[in-house]
Amino acid sequence: MSDAQALSDRLESKKIVVCVGSGGVGKTTTAAAIGVRSAQRGKRVLVCTIDPARRLATSLGLAGLEHQPRQVPAELLGGSGVGQLWAMMLDQKRAFDEVVLRHTKDPATQRRILNNRIYQQISASLTGSQEYAAVAKLAEIDREGGWDLIVLDTPPTANALDFLDAPQKVADAVDSPAVKWFTGKGSGFGVKALGLGAAFVMQRVARFVGAGLLEDMAAFMVEFNEALGGFRERSREVSGLLRDPKVGFVLVCAPDPLVVDEAIYFYQRLAQYGISFQGFVCNRVRRRAGPPPPSEEVTARLALLPGLQALSPHELADASRALLGSYHDMELLGETDAAEIQRLGQKCGDTHVYVKVPFFERDVHDVVELSRLAGYVLGA
Ligand SMILES: Nc1ncnc2c1ncn2[C@@H]1O[C@H](COP(=O)(O)OP(=O)(O)OP(=O)(O)O)[C@@H](O)[C@H]1O
Ligand SMILES: [Mg+2]
Repeated sequence: MSDAQALSDRLESKKIVVCVGSGGVGKTTTAAAIGVRSAQRGKRVLVCTIDPARRLATSLGLAGLEHQPRQVPAELLGGSGVGQLWAMMLDQKRAFDEVVLRHTKDPATQRRILNNRIYQQISASLTGSQEYAAVAKLAEIDREGGWDLIVLDTPPTANALDFLDAPQKVADAVDSPAVKWFTGKGSGFGVKALGLGAAFVMQRVARFVGAGLLEDMAAFMVEFNEALGGFRERSREVSGLLRDPKVGFVLVCAPDPLVVDEAIYFYQRLAQYGISFQGFVCNRVRRRAGPPPPSEEVTARLALLPGLQALSPHELADASRALLGSYHDMELLGETDAAEIQRLGQKCGDTHVYVKVPFFERDVHDVVELSRLAGYVLGA
């Protein structure tokens, strides 16, 4: 059985497929390709992507789209009897806001929180907030139901583990002593109960940061109290969902030494988290083409090319040498890539699936190319 067939069999029973991996390795492309192939095989699929390249977004019908699923025109998928492909671009800020809206009842409070400077800052830049938003949205889409398969793309994180740690991190932040103190849930303190000494310190701090900012902060801590419970609850739900057997993780990597190191580490952590791992997608692999033809043959073939016929025999020999030099370099790169994939296999074990996707001549930006790439990932 081919690796692609093996991965396809493993993913067949999954309701959610999550594509994870280091930045820039092809997570979004792989997620879209899995979506395309699964829809072509008759499923009703939602691909939830994060910040795809503009041309990929356009070709999936995602241009100008924010946060709502939109159907990819069926004719793009080709053939008859295909399922449906829907795609949406996750808006991290919106996903964060939705948690607040869900868990704060009073519309006036909702408005005050969403307009609060501190909230805006935190929701945009808290470590892991983007990852948190992605999984929180996933939990919501899953709860609403209606999809045969949801494919989740994940954000480009410096440390791919942020994605798994995010729910816990947000829950920890919510339960941190600082937040408890501000909201008066600690040991009897709170902004309102500041002693004289602390009030003096606050006045001094206000001189530097501006009194308005401090007020925003205090208001935020008090108003946000109600929503905090929502974040905590959602974090538990999301952590549970990631470990559910209906969810399968695909680890996308590239045959680059640093990326392979990260993939090995990430694989080990996935195992520690008790997450259902389905296989590796080794993307942009440069293949070896075998021994080159003799140089006289290369020169003879070059001489037949239109545009090169005016070259002197000496110039043709030079061109042939340069070409063979490049060929040799490509072979070396192919060898290096094969060695890296072998190293990955040695570290992570040979019971896993390692599909290999070649380095395409061009970026993968339309459904035809995605479908071609999907052939390497899930088979024809
Ligand atoms: N096999 C391939 N051959 C050639 N180009 C590829 C291949 N796979 C992906 N690409 C291109 O590489 C670029 C990065 O891919 P992609 O956006 O999927 O990576 P990513 O892991 O989602 O990145 P980020 O971490 O920034 O979200 C894109 O322009 C994509 O078209
Ligand atoms: Mg991406």
